[in-house]
Amino acid sequence: MSLTSLRTRLAATPAMQAAVNGRPRTGDAELRAAVAGRTVLVTGASFGIGEATARRLAAAGAKVLLIARTAERLLEVSEELGDDAYPYPCDLTDFDAVGELAARLLYEHGPPDVLVNNAGKSIRRSIADSTDRFHDFQRSIAINYLGPIRLTLALLPAMRERGSGHLVNISTSGVRGLPASPGWSAYQSSKAAFDVWSRSVAQEVRPDGVASTSIYMGLVKTRMSAPNFATLPGLSPEGAGALVCDAIVRRPRTAGPSWVGLADVFTNGLMRGTSERVMARAFLHNERARAARD
Ligand SMILES: NC(=O)c1ccc[n+]([C@@H]2O[C@H](COP(=O)([O-])OP(=O)(O)OC[C@H]3O[C@@H](n4cnc5c(N)ncnc54)[C@H](OP(=O)(O)O)[C@@H]3O)[C@@H](O)[C@H]2O)c1
Repeated sequence: MSLTSLRTRLAATPAMQAAVNGRPRTGDAELRAAVAGRTVLVTGASFGIGEATARRLAAAGAKVLLIARTAERLLEVSEELGDDAYPYPCDLTDFDAVGELAARLLYEHGPPDVLVNNAGKSIRRSIADSTDRFHDFQRSIAINYLGPIRLTLALLPAMRERGSGHLVNISTSGVRGLPASPGWSAYQSSKAAFDVWSRSVAQEVRPDGVASTSIYMGLVKTRMSAPNFATLPGLSPEGAGALVCDAIVRRPRTAGPSWVGLADVFTNGLMRGTSERVMARAFLHNERARAARD
């Protein structure tokens, strides 16, 4: 057996996935007690983590409001989830449309009990290959930062007025735990921007009864991660959805794999220079290997 296939096999084991990316703790009964009859809005619910989260929440009796662009897929998912699932096709980077949608959601369902800002897009591209691609940065900031802010701004006042609610941000261990990584400038910076925004807002709204959780998700095997991380250990979308449900039940300020907090002390604190040099070397090595292949 080759080293790569051994690594792929090991990575696929549930124990390895849990060790690297976290282990969900909430059972079905506990989740049901927390969310049955509650309204949970999940963005990016047509695929991946958002879809899996919506499925688990709907199975636990929550009313789920689903947002994504792919209308057909969203309808399909909501039909499978039953009568208490509502599809709202929308491009979250169309900020006027988001404003209109939020008004409609408030009218039809009232303020959500939980808003899961999950929709996102990743881009891996070196800065050398980005020279003529300013739009990569515009797109990343639009979906990973401005879109969720537009939606949250429209829904938050009603949540604060009611005196309850929960904002859940699906962030990434690329923001906390891993150092700034070459090739990921557009993605990591846009996710970092929304992370800081969320944590800043959290402090203002907590006194009004609105909690906020930033989940620093490890690797999850979705269509987003597939092109770059096929052989690394990662959670299934269902495993990641279960972590999101944990956060909805327990409402911690931060969540994610246990290694993230400690790693952050070193990679972005005490050993920042060293960790960035290691990343730079790995990047150069990969770029050379790629050039040799091409
Ligand atoms: N996969 C990972 O390893 C990983 C790790 C850490 C964090 N995350 C974060 O987890 C979140 C979900 O990622 P995923 O891995 O589940 O990816 P995914 O399978 O590609 O799902 C992304 C979701 O976002 C929606 N979306 C994308 N652009 C949109 C737009 N302009 N308007 C509305 N919806 C949009 C997509 O639906 P449509 O295409 O139908 O619009 C889809 O439902 C992202 O925020 C990502 O940054 C992922």
